Amino acid sequence: MLLAVIAVVLLLLPQAMPFEASSCDGSTYAPNSPFQASLNLVAAALPGNASSMPSGFATADAGTSPTRAYAMALCRGDVNASTCAACVAAAFRAAGAQDNCPNNTGATMYEDACVLRFSTVQFLDFLRADQWQPGELTFQIAPASSNVGSAQGAWFSAAATSILTAVVDHALAAAGNSTTAKKYFATGEVDFQPRIYALAQCLPEMTPSQCQSCLGTLLVQTTPMLSTKPRWIMALVAWCNLRYSVRPFYEGWSMLRLPAPPPPAVVPPSVTPKSGGTGKKMSVAGISVGIVCSVLLLFVLSVFAFVRFKRRTTKHSEDDHPFKKIVGAQCMIFDLSALQEATESFSEKNKLGEGGFGIVYKGILADGQEIAVKKLLGGTGSGLHQLHNEVQLLAELQHKNLVRLQGFCSHRDDTLLVYEYIKNGSLDNFLFAFVGNRNQ
Ligand SMILES: *[C@@H]1O[C@H](CO)[C@@H](O)[C@H](O)[C@H]1NC(C)=O
Ligand SMILES: *[C@@H]1O[C@H](CO)[C@@H](O)[C@H](O)[C@H]1NC(C)=O
Ligand SMILES: *[C@@H]1O[C@H](CO)[C@@H](O)[C@H](O)[C@H]1NC(C)=O
Ligand SMILES: *[C@@H]1O[C@H](CO)[C@@H](O)[C@H](O)[C@H]1NC(C)=O
Repeated sequence: MLLAVIAVVLLLLPQAMPFEASSCDGSTYAPNSPFQASLNLVAAALPGNASSMPSGFATADAGTSPTRAYAMALCRGDVNASTCAACVAAAFRAAGAQDNCPNNTGATMYEDACVLRFSTVQFLDFLRADQWQPGELTFQIAPASSNVGSAQGAWFSAAATSILTAVVDHALAAAGNSTTAKKYFATGEVDFQPRIYALAQCLPEMTPSQCQSCLGTLLVQTTPMLSTKPRWIMALVAWCNLRYSVRPFYEGWSMLRLPAPPPPAVVPPSVTPKSGGTGKKMSVAGISVGIVCSVLLLFVLSVFAFVRFKRRTTKHSEDDHPFKKIVGAQCMIFDLSALQEATESFSEKNKLGEGGFGIVYKGILADGQEIAVKKLLGGTGSGLHQLHNEVQLLAELQHKNLVRLQGFCSHRDDTLLVYEYIKNGSLDNFLFAFVGNRNQ
C-alpha cells in the first residue's frame, strides 16, 4: 500500500500544483441569506474605500449580528488606485469561486496586488494581539532554476537576506512617521547577479512592535529557504507581507538600493540566519520531532525512489524493505482505524476548521494524547502531491511557532497528516503552505 502511495507521489512530483491562495475559516451560509446581503454591502464599499486611502487600506462592516460581515483590504503599497480597486473587487469574486471559499462566512484571499479578509467574527480591533498575530501563513515559492544563475547558494542567500532585512527595517523606520502616507511599506533592490527585488508591508493600523513581530516572523521563516536560490518567495499573512523576486514585481523606483554583499567566507549565512533585528533566534530546541519526522518522510520518499529505480533495472525480491523499520522507529504511521476512533469518525463536532489545503479535526488517541488530524482535500493525486509539498516545507521551515508533524496515514483516496494538538490554539496554529509554480 505504502509503496503504491509513494510511487504515485513520485510520478506526480514534476507536475505543478494549481495555484491557490485562499483560506476559509467560517461556516457555510445559504444563498440569499442575510449574511450574503451584508457581504454584498462590504464588497460594494471596500474596493472604492481602500483605493481612495493613501495607505491602500480600508475596513468595512455591514449588517447586524449574527449575520454581520466584517472586512478589510490592504493593497500593495506601490499600486495605483485603479489597480487597487480592481484587485479588491476581484478578490471578493474569487472568494466565492468553487475552488476557494464558496458560500463561506470567513475567507482570506491573497492576491498579487492585495489581501482581502472577511468574516462574521469582529477581527478589526488591530490593537488586540490575538487579532493580528501571524497565523495561517501562505508561502509561495518558485523552485530554483537556471534563471537564478550560477551564484553560489550561500552568496545568493546573503544578498537576498541583506535586502529583505533592509526593507523590513525601512518599513519599520517609517512607522513613527505620521507624515509618511505609505506607512510600513518599503521596496528595495540589491546589485547582485541576478538583481534581487524585495518588498515589505504591514497593515497601517498596527503598532510598530506588532509590525516588527509580524515581519520578523516572516523573515525568520523565509531565511532558511534562501540557500536553495528560489526565483521568488512570497511570505504572507493577512497582516503583513514580505516577498522577493529576481524580476521586478512592483511599480516605480525602489526605495532602497544596496550593493552586492562580499562573497561569504567559510560559514555560509544559511547556517546562521540573521533575524532582522527582531531578536528572535531559531532555537535548537524547537527543531524537534516534527522536523525529524519531516526529514525522515523525505528520506523515505527518496528510499522508495531508489528502490523503484533498482526494481526497474533488476528484479528484486518483494520483501526486505528497509524503510518500514526506519519509519516505525521515529515517525509514526497511523492506522486509519485509530484516527477514525480518535476523531469519532471525523465527526463535524471535532472539526477545528478548514484551510486551503484540507480539513482539520481534533482527536484523542487511545493513550489520551491529543492530536490534530489534517485530512488533505482532493483525490489521490492532489492529496499526495500536497503531502509531498507540506512535508518538504515542514522540513525546510524549522521554527518553534509551527506545529509539529507527528506522522501520517494514507488509505485509498485519503491522505491524513497527524500533528500535535495545541491547547487554546485555533486553526490558525496549523501551517497551511502553498507552494506555487507560477512563472513570475
Ligand atoms: C466607504 O464607502 C462608502 C460607500 O461607498 C462611503 O459611504 C464611505 O464614506 C466610505 N468610507 C470611507 C472611510 O471612505
Ligand atoms: C495603474 O497601474 C496600472 C498597472 O501599472 C496601469 O496599467 C494603469 O494605467 C494605471 N492607471 C492609472 C490611472 O494610472
Ligand atoms: C452556494 O451558492 C450557490 C449559488 O450562489 C448555490 O448554487 C450552491 O448550492 C450553494 N452551496 C451551498 C453548499 O449552499
Ligand atoms: C520621516 O519622513 C521624513 C520625510 O519623508 C524623512 O526625512 C524622515 O527620515 C522620516 N523619519 C523616519 C524615522 O523614517
